[in-house]
Amino acid sequence: MTDDPMYLEAIDRFAAVIAEAKQLDLKDPTVMALATVGVDGRPSVRMVLMRGFDERGINFFTNVGSRKGQELAANTIAAVCFHWEPLLKQIRIEGAVEMVSDEETDAYWNSRPRDSRIGAWASDQSQPLDRRETLEARVAEFDAKFPGDDIPRPDFWRGYRIIPDRIEFWHSRNARLHDREVYERTANVWTRMRLYP
Ligand SMILES: Cc1cc2nc3c(=O)[nH]c(=O)nc-3n(C[C@H](O)[C@H](O)[C@H](O)COP(=O)(O)O)c2cc1C
Repeated sequence: MTDDPMYLEAIDRFAAVIAEAKQLDLKDPTVMALATVGVDGRPSVRMVLMRGFDERGINFFTNVGSRKGQELAANTIAAVCFHWEPLLKQIRIEGAVEMVSDEETDAYWNSRPRDSRIGAWASDQSQPLDRRETLEARVAEFDAKFPGDDIPRPDFWRGYRIIPDRIEFWHSRNARLHDREVYERTANVWTRMRLYP
């Protein structure tokens, strides 16, 4: 966390765009492409939902044993990219990840629908699955194991926080002369600069 005014300006701008996106008629206005890099230097990318943000960073939740989880364990730097076509805006954020506290993770876990919590237990995310029926049998197994709404959170289901060290705001303009503004932390000082489109 930092109280650098330049960083707080970037977070305010991010919050304003997220608020704009939430006004749109989108199912998942906070979906973002998350890029991670494995030990072999090979990048991988997938969509995940941003589940909250504040000055400490932006959160998402997943299975720590998944491909992304394994890659983040080996290389803690991640990058995300949001795009909202109706807003003509893109935001890119990069930074190191840390684990969200157990308390915050539990709070979000407990807010999820029962089916999603059973599904999280049943899915050995990113591991080979021989057939669909195996997954369905695992769902039935955990459904029977946890009959009520009080379903414990599996240890492998965690929240990650990306602590931004670079935030770029891109806004489409005419003739491909788009606006690009980057906020970047170097040696603990945040600066803002424009980039050619
Ligand atoms: C719109 C959308 C939202 C998603 N949100 C999440 C999410 O929040 N967490 C998650 O683990 N996977 C989410 N997924 C699934 C991931 O894209 C991915 O298939 C999964 O996490 C496994 O990725 P990995 O094998 O690279 O770890 C989402 C997919 C889509 C299309």
